[in-house]
Amino acid sequence: MANDDKSPAADLWSNWLLHGRDAGDPELRETVRTRVDGYVDRLLEGAHLAPGETLADIGSGEGHVAFRAIERVGPTLRVCLSDVSEPMLRHAEARAVERGVRGQCTFVRCAADRLEGMNDASADVVTTRSVLAYVQDKTAALREFHRILKAGGRISLAEPVMQDDALAARAMKAVIDSKPPEGVSALMVLLHRWKAAQYPDTEEKIRLSPLANYSERDLVRFAQNAGFLDIHLELHIDIVPSILHSWEAFINSSPHPLAPPLSAIMAEQFTPAERDLFERSMRPVLEDPKSVSTDRMLYLTARKPPA
Ligand SMILES: C[S@@+](CC[C@H](N)C(=O)[O-])C[C@H]1O[C@@H](n2cnc3c(N)ncnc32)[C@H](O)[C@@H]1O
Repeated sequence: MANDDKSPAADLWSNWLLHGRDAGDPELRETVRTRVDGYVDRLLEGAHLAPGETLADIGSGEGHVAFRAIERVGPTLRVCLSDVSEPMLRHAEARAVERGVRGQCTFVRCAADRLEGMNDASADVVTTRSVLAYVQDKTAALREFHRILKAGGRISLAEPVMQDDALAARAMKAVIDSKPPEGVSALMVLLHRWKAAQYPDTEEKIRLSPLANYSERDLVRFAQNAGFLDIHLELHIDIVPSILHSWEAFINSSPHPLAPPLSAIMAEQFTPAERDLFERSMRPVLEDPKSVSTDRMLYLTARKPPA
């Protein structure tokens, strides 16, 4: 059964995936869906799935990867959807029923770095999209992917790269801290307050944050340490037309599940005069049809050595 904010079973993940990501704005929801489909297609190209295989999708969320894989490969593909969030698993299960593919799917609740209930050498392919960014021990997760793969099995991962957002927040803080208060523009202070509420902004916070304490190169090393071979990583950085032009959607959506929306930050941390200044400055930028955003996504493929 699908969850909503009022459901007692809703959690951080279901609230963000089903509401917070697009602030309930139908146009933005459609645009996000199209963009996610692009990431998932690229991920599945790297997976080279074949009929009769078993796919384990870790952190399966709404089931995008699983259902798109079934569309591509057909009725002989078996998919294990696993997620730490029970509401997301139930949501994905309801979607599987709607699509008539429930019989091809199994659902396992577990954390990515401890795949309890998933047997050794049981999957031909492991996929995960936008999940490792939230896992503290990424090497442990990759070791678990390695454990559940058959000899010669493949992984294909797609992860957003958020380290640059944290480094930008840290740079803003460094500029502000280096000047006397009268030397810093009021808008710069507000921009930093906004970014610092959504990303770590000090060396120490970055070091402790699973979102920001690794680079794409670290991920290659983690995969190697977990025992994978034929590791290939592509970093895609695209400056693309912004998908957010509605002020309401902008302030009520958040860039990742752990980040509060700007509306909450403004309510809690801005005075009325600061809110006014912020909106007067930022709204024209956001509403400019020529505004752009930076999309950073890494794709990693690798293979478990043959027996
Ligand atoms: C950003 S969503 C991505 C969902 C899905 N992979 C997709 O591509 O649409 C992150 C998902 O990872 C799950 N998740 C978060 N932390 C996790 C963990 N430690 N282990 C397993 N799943 C986790 C969340 O419940 C959520 O469904």
